[in-house]
Amino acid sequence: MTAAAPDFSNWNIVERYPHDIWRWMRANDPVFWWDKTDGRPFWAITKHADITTIGKRPTQFLNAPRLTIEPTAERDPDREMAFPPTLIQLDPPKHGIYRRLISNRFTPRALKRFHHDIDQIGREIVEDLVSEGKEGECDFVEKISAPLPIAVIAWMLGLPKSDWNLLFDWTNRIIGAADPAFQVEGKTPEESSMEAMTEVFMYFSKLVEERKKEPADDLITLFTQMQVDGEPIPPMDVLAWCLIIVIAGNETTRNATTGGMLAFVEHQSELRKLQDDATLLGSAIEEVVRWSTPIIHFARTATEDFELRDKTIRAGDAVALFYPSANRDEEVFEDPYAFRIDRNPNRHLGFGVGEHFCLGAHLARLEMQVAYKYLLPRIEEIELAGPVDRLHSSLVGGVKHLPIRYKLKEA
Ligand code: HEM
Repeated sequence: MTAAAPDFSNWNIVERYPHDIWRWMRANDPVFWWDKTDGRPFWAITKHADITTIGKRPTQFLNAPRLTIEPTAERDPDREMAFPPTLIQLDPPKHGIYRRLISNRFTPRALKRFHHDIDQIGREIVEDLVSEGKEGECDFVEKISAPLPIAVIAWMLGLPKSDWNLLFDWTNRIIGAADPAFQVEGKTPEESSMEAMTEVFMYFSKLVEERKKEPADDLITLFTQMQVDGEPIPPMDVLAWCLIIVIAGNETTRNATTGGMLAFVEHQSELRKLQDDATLLGSAIEEVVRWSTPIIHFARTATEDFELRDKTIRAGDAVALFYPSANRDEEVFEDPYAFRIDRNPNRHLGFGVGEHFCLGAHLARLEMQVAYKYLLPRIEEIELAGPVDRLHSSLVGGVKHLPIRYKLKEA
């Protein structure tokens, strides 16, 4: 028998993580046609298996036409034209060709050569907090989870340290455009985000020119040297590479690290378990990514009619892949609403699945390992010191501020 639906008549997909709605959909209508929106209607895909099916069919479900669902007004097409598509907006065959230009830089093996530097960056950030005293209060986002990925990405790109803060501001304004805290006064979310994108482009244009004249051992130099069929890639594509690394690598890792910290505060027995057995760090990080699932959705557009369960997705229809819902799927995860750092297996979709599987997954894991490895063993007591301030976004389930109060033990 079909259970009564929760009242989601006013469901607005910027309402972060509506787990009760997704749970109902998974059980009763996993391929759900949502047409009560100011924007264009879409299919809400909520089951792990269905998201996997779609993610692995990149020619039947495209990224380029519509990568995200806009809950209210549609995107301005002029904006779409203004910037070149980044890797995640490409479809086969170009997507594979472009991804292969860089993918070997992000394998666990290739990242080994950066371990030492990333470790150093992470240790300094944690030490900065620890040096403030054995007891204290701070905003975990400001102190640890925001600076770490910014520093790592900026360092890999080869940006001067004095500019690292600029990245923080730009990613906030681009990803968090729908949040009033990041909007520029008198501007719409679209305008705020467009303004930040323009600044990023201008900034990187300058650096790209510098690296062409004076190559260095960094990602920007790599982008300037990329070739397809013996020809350099177009200058706008070089800039698109800079943009995707900045955008994709920052907010996501920040929010996973923050989401994990919040989970440890709320499930202190799991924190103690990790303190007692450091070998659990790897599985703990996978559980943090499953638990927090920073990317709420990405969308695809069907190129042909496609039967999924009892529904027909028509050519041209948009589907929203709700990764956090897949990561609570009762058919895949035992006790999915429990945070368990030793969960095994843990086939979460926090990094997506298929053609566009997160390029930076290993890097993200490494960054989180560094943050947790130096901090968590030191925690004697920890609690929230105020409300968790969340980002208003349908794309990234961000936490703007996580106030914590802590007592540390000796190293
Ligand atoms: C915990 C942190 C992270 C999470 C949760 C995350 C999540 C995701 C997700 C869900 C996707 C889309 C996958 C799909 O559509 O199937 C993605 C793609 C991507 N991510 Fe990440 N990401 C993280 C960190 C990073 C980092 C550190 C980088 C830095 C390089 C990065 C670079 C990318 C890129 C370039 C893509 C596009 C890949 C493609 O289209 O082929 N991500 N990520």
